[in-house]
Amino acid sequence: MNPIKRLISEHETIIDALQVLSKICDASATACQIANPAHADQLVAFFRLYADAWHHGKEEDQLFPALEQIGISREGGPIGVMLIEHDQGREFVRGMGQSLTTFKDDSDKGTTDFIRYSRGFIQLLTQHIDKENKVLFTMAEKHLPKSTLNELEVLFDQKASTDASTDIKKICEAVELLKTIYGI
Ligand SMILES: [Fe+2]
Ligand SMILES: [Fe+2]
Repeated sequence: MNPIKRLISEHETIIDALQVLSKICDASATACQIANPAHADQLVAFFRLYADAWHHGKEEDQLFPALEQIGISREGGPIGVMLIEHDQGREFVRGMGQSLTTFKDDSDKGTTDFIRYSRGFIQLLTQHIDKENKVLFTMAEKHLPKSTLNELEVLFDQKASTDASTDIKKICEAVELLKTIYGI
């Protein structure tokens, strides 16, 4: 598959998971406690493993360096902004994980923080994905040489055949189940 289309398809999977998270936030706000912490745990694992290590990993290790080679700047440019947002996302997910742990120790605590971190993450990542799809990835498809796109495709195929892909499949299956449960 074209490597840019593959990343866009991964964005769709991430957006689905964000929609599940939004439903859990709404239910948690209504109940004044984290609604189904086991599902929230699965989402935190998905955002760490799939959205960050897998997807952002491909962007940071392979796509962004290729874009820099054709003159798209990192410092003060679109790649720098994307990297800052990846870091901000990591902070939100860390906060979600910590507030879930707090809640599991004492169910009177952690809910407000969990909702705050989660909603911040939803807003950040939704805007981030929109910018990548509409601006950065459009530039990539238009300006990256065909040979570079082919190289990226090979690198992504290699990644898909590593041991890590087994965990990725499992966590994506878990999110598919959550989508059914929450009507996404
Ligand atoms: Fe990104
Ligand atoms: Fe992305």
